[in-house]
Amino acid sequence: MNTIKACIFDLDGVIVDTAIYHYKAWKRLANSLGFDFTEHQNEQLKGVSRVRSLQLILGWGNVTKTEAEQEELATQKNTWYMEMVNQMTPAEILPGAKEFLQACRAVGLKIALGSASKNSMTILDKLNLTDMFDAVIDGNKVSKAKPDPEVFLAGAQALGMQPEECVVFEDAIAGVEAALAGDMKVVGIGSPDVLVGANLVIKGLDEMTLNKLYKL
Ligand code: G6P
Ligand code: MG
Repeated sequence: MNTIKACIFDLDGVIVDTAIYHYKAWKRLANSLGFDFTEHQNEQLKGVSRVRSLQLILGWGNVTKTEAEQEELATQKNTWYMEMVNQMTPAEILPGAKEFLQACRAVGLKIALGSASKNSMTILDKLNLTDMFDAVIDGNKVSKAKPDPEVFLAGAQALGMQPEECVVFEDAIAGVEAALAGDMKVVGIGSPDVLVGANLVIKGLDEMTLNKLYKL
């Protein structure tokens, strides 16, 4: 029996690849503090909130800052990040993402966004995708970070769905764990070696079909 009625999408790494902009902005911040920041370290920040990311980076650089200084640094990083985000166009939507969203809408599936990013609305706007979502749960609306299921449970609730009626799409292991903790099915976007526990792992939404969705 097919009980899937809704899809909940992570944003960064699923709909659009903002990781490169996060990387450039964090690297600029680290360099301004006198140390470097690698792409490998950036990988570990996928799905991690802004404040927690900063704390990890300061730890890697062996730098201690007060809470007030941390707030300033996080704001500075976000200013640099948003300079790049503001240049984004719909051409940066990842392959297959818009097509799959359209396919879901065409068969009446409900669609929500479930992202840690406090900039989600701006990014969706830049990509001309705002209208595709029935609900947006972003970093401004939740207090517990993935792997806590709060963001996805709030998404299901906003859509009026039960968790088991929802499928989550996630590129971060913390996000996969969050979906499973919320009793939802989850499609991992990335590598099966990393996204352990996902019901299906694909390389990108260009590999996703409604047929695969209903078979989960
Ligand atoms: C996503 C990204 C993280 C980012 C977080 C917060 O989860 O994968 O790298 O730190 O959002 O983003 P924000 O736009 O609020 O700084
Ligand atoms: Mg992500």
